[in-house]
Amino acid sequence: MANHKTKLELTWIGKENRPKLEPRILVEDQGKSYHAKFRIKTGKSADFADERRLTSGQDSSPRKSAQSADEDFFDNRLIFGDNLLALKALEQEFTGKIRCVFIDPPYNTGSAFTHYDDGIEHSLWLTLMRDRLELIWRLLSDDGSLWITIDDNEAHYLKVLCDEIFERANFVANVLWQKSHTRENRTDISAVHDHVLVFAKQHEIFKNKRNPLPASEDQLGRYENPDNDPRGAWASLPAHAKAEKGRRKAQFFTVTTPSGRKVDTPAGRCWLYTEERFREMVEDNRIWFGADGANVPRVKKFLSEVKAGLVPSTIWFHSEVGTTGTAKAELTSLFPGETPFSTPKPEALLQRVLLIATNPGDLVLDSFAGSGTTGAVAHKMGRRWIMVELGEHCHTHIIPRLKKVIDGTDKGGITEAVGWKGGGGFRYYRLAPSLLEKDQFNNWIISKKFNPAMLAEAICKLEGFTYAPSETVYWQHGHSTENDYIYVTTQTLTREQFQKLSDEVGEGRSLLIMCGAFRVKNLDEFPNLTVKKIPKAVLSRCEWGRDDYSLEIAHLPMREAVSDQRSEVSEEDTAGNPRKSRTKEERRAQASLFDLNGKKEVPS
Ligand SMILES: C[S@@+](CC[C@H](N)C(=O)[O-])C[C@H]1O[C@@H](n2cnc3c(N)ncnc32)[C@H](O)[C@@H]1O
Repeated sequence: MANHKTKLELTWIGKENRPKLEPRILVEDQGKSYHAKFRIKTGKSADFADERRLTSGQDSSPRKSAQSADEDFFDNRLIFGDNLLALKALEQEFTGKIRCVFIDPPYNTGSAFTHYDDGIEHSLWLTLMRDRLELIWRLLSDDGSLWITIDDNEAHYLKVLCDEIFERANFVANVLWQKSHTRENRTDISAVHDHVLVFAKQHEIFKNKRNPLPASEDQLGRYENPDNDPRGAWASLPAHAKAEKGRRKAQFFTVTTPSGRKVDTPAGRCWLYTEERFREMVEDNRIWFGADGANVPRVKKFLSEVKAGLVPSTIWFHSEVGTTGTAKAELTSLFPGETPFSTPKPEALLQRVLLIATNPGDLVLDSFAGSGTTGAVAHKMGRRWIMVELGEHCHTHIIPRLKKVIDGTDKGGITEAVGWKGGGGFRYYRLAPSLLEKDQFNNWIISKKFNPAMLAEAICKLEGFTYAPSETVYWQHGHSTENDYIYVTTQTLTREQFQKLSDEVGEGRSLLIMCGAFRVKNLDEFPNLTVKKIPKAVLSRCEWGRDDYSLEIAHLPMREAVSDQRSEVSEEDTAGNPRKSRTKEERRAQASLFDLNGKKEVPS
């Protein structure tokens, strides 16, 4: 993250306020976790490997199902709760480990807040995004990238904000996704695209490691072999280029075609090669003069040479990656008869992002999961995933959707394209409650909801230890190094107990003891022990007892939509017909920032 002050900065009221987040532990609810009966291979050499080769035509056989085992694909995570706390909870274990973050946050269309200063509203949105993006930045690996879908309402402010967090040099592209192919006739200019802002953790590394895209069927169809070249099918490209600075004198010459015709380049152009190189190319049958040898020369580009893939471009057409309507149709076919989630993204859009940014086995994170498209696509593509969702649709949409993916009964989206047959699993987590709560005297005490194991795990996290309770040594709850351990207890420890612990720890090792209290005057007697009292020792670490960092927004009043998330208003329905304007309630559902329909969802 940029540590230095830049000359140019986007600033707003309250920008300097940052929450002091409690690093919560995640508690698995096994009843909601779900696993297939078989294991799946995710290794880079596994069945998913070399997608480029498979999808670019060298091997057109359908991809094998990925159900044979040697690596675990079961530990994907679905987290129910506020994503700011969830991202903080992931920080200790996943810093520098996430290869790709895709987020599709509420677009802050302004329609949700009636009697409120627009500036404040936008600044609050920016603050909420900033806090989350800073954590996301930390989670990304050096070769990782962040992809954010957003519309014109906030795209440009968000770009500047991301420049600040990621540094401007790490901006990769602003991809335009054609989210709709129908025109909204009731407006001034019909918005048919969303932005996909792409930032790299380190642009140079990303450049070298990002994947090219496989050529499409349409592109492959342009390769033919009219002269039966033994090197296979080819397409012809112009043999001349702009005669700009840096071109060599030897690139300006007259070509004589096999038929004897003299050909010069058009005005302001020169040949791609020097005369000498051009002759070599002709000898190697790499220049095409047409069937009768009289045409303007063109260069033969062999299909075998483009197999390495195409450089992705910044315009993604609906015909390639689908529309919002496609996404809704995908959900409708998964859950016929049910109201589809209001703002899903098409699976093909996510597939393209993950093709470029990740390889099989890599970790993908979506902290605004919605209906779970990112997880579903990542799963089908053999990527590991983490998703966070605050809304009840975590249970009504994401879990049933992922179950179908795992069971192999989701036949829609990219299933056929990637040959997905089912497998794998995920673990469902909730954020643990706050470690500390106030008692009747207004003193902070350890929450009664914490059992000893949860307490040990939470304290390990706060103290920066890895939670790894030993099955045999009662005082080894975690470690920071090979020789440094932590022991967590609510007991009041006596001198005898310290002596025993010190003896067991022995020389060359150290132990941090976090206890309720102790009855010893001189702890210096035990040089291998460090003793701290809980909760006193952790009280000033963070904000305790706060469950929802989207709270302020949820309390803001709402107003009639003025500018809206137009994609939703003008989007075609699943049958491709223009959709009528959404109701106020529908607009509220999408536009409410970081909460649902204006209702606060407090993770339990
Ligand atoms: C536009 S939707 C994402 C749609 C998703 N890409 C899909 O394909 O279904 C944004 C989602 O972010 C969720 N959200 C908003 N604020 C959140 C927060 N603070 N923590 C977690 N999720 C949040 C909303 O509930 C909503 O489901």
